[in-house]
Amino acid sequence: MTSRRQFLAAGAAGAFLHLDRHTAGNGVYYSEVEARIARHDFRGLTKGDLATPALILDEALFQQNLEKMAEYNKAAGLKLRAHMKIHKCPEISKQQVALGSIGVCCATTAECELMINSGIHGVLHTCQPAGRSQISRTVALARRDPTFISVLDDPSTVDTLEEALAAAHAKMNVVVDVYAGLNREGCQPGEPAVQLAQKVDRQEHLRLVGLMGYAGMAAHTDGWENRKKRSADDLAGLIETVDLCRKSGLPIEIITGGSTGTYNIDTENGLTELQAGSYAFMDTLYRRIGGKNDDTCYADFEAALTVMTTVVSKTHPNQCAVDYGNKATLRTTDEVKGRPGVRIESGGAEYGLLLWNEGDRDINLGERVEIYPSNLDTSINVFDRIYVARGESIVDAWSIMGRTGAPQR
Ligand SMILES: Cc1ncc(COP(=O)(O)O)c(C=O)c1O
Repeated sequence: MTSRRQFLAAGAAGAFLHLDRHTAGNGVYYSEVEARIARHDFRGLTKGDLATPALILDEALFQQNLEKMAEYNKAAGLKLRAHMKIHKCPEISKQQVALGSIGVCCATTAECELMINSGIHGVLHTCQPAGRSQISRTVALARRDPTFISVLDDPSTVDTLEEALAAAHAKMNVVVDVYAGLNREGCQPGEPAVQLAQKVDRQEHLRLVGLMGYAGMAAHTDGWENRKKRSADDLAGLIETVDLCRKSGLPIEIITGGSTGTYNIDTENGLTELQAGSYAFMDTLYRRIGGKNDDTCYADFEAALTVMTTVVSKTHPNQCAVDYGNKATLRTTDEVKGRPGVRIESGGAEYGLLLWNEGDRDINLGERVEIYPSNLDTSINVFDRIYVARGESIVDAWSIMGRTGAPQR
């Protein structure tokens, strides 16, 4: 491995340090790759140098997605508070904030902790905290950051939080979560939601700031017109609740919800804030829901993230095996980049099968094949880093949830 002194000397001499690919056979080569990544020195590093399976982000497409969403929201007068559950990377949230996102949405207490530890403000926890661990950590977050907001959908949570906050001499912003068609969360719209909001408003240590309605069933509804209708239907109760709350004198500054699938619909549905997340990377299931002008493909945002694999066996005609299997959440709805006719099947925990119908598609043993995953949330969750690619070059690596794990799982 190149010593630190040699590395600095090469840099000082203006020489470009290249990886010594000839030492690959004795293991020195890969440890040098890892050392380079650890010190964020990506000069000369290419996709071909990485261990697989690896998450690869196409920097140009990713930037395009972030900018498109930011520009759309600016023009539409809708604030973006981008959901980070699909990437779990502070580096990405910071870029979203730099482009105008007013903060971030998080799905878990641990995600909120990661974001606040990274210096990001305006964190909205979109899931109600419950149980001793989550309540105490939520109170700790509120003490640290006065811009932190948590949702709740149950009167008993109001009592639990008020008591815990009072004991900690802390105050916290609250958004009441109202049911919007997804049977997992949200109090009933109308009078029950108004009563819950009033209860929050009466507490000394809670500050009511608004209402949330996550129309999760609308997000992936096929066809833009169907999606528009589903979103309007599912958000109707929320909008009625906003009116009732305001009539009763409650302060409703924030009306938050929405998704990538409905980003250009939600402006018409009365939201003030959009929680979209997947638009940054996109996945194959989202691409299939159809867009406003194209029923077959939702192409408003580009597919920027792939799982890069290596062909590890090619012993049968018209198929090969890659090192991407069930443990890396392979699914048959994944798609092979640049090879539209190739199908994907599971070959077990660590293997995936690529199959094609006619002739030899020239997929060779040892070749790198990139695959678009079906569901970003689950794919991201099984890796420790995202590699940022500019063409074939690797220009950065971002840790997922702050993990510094093995190069490969
Ligand atoms: C509460 C909530 N808001 C927003 C989103 C973001 O949706 P999307 O990734 O579809 O943009 C999600 C995703 O599941 C969510 O659970």
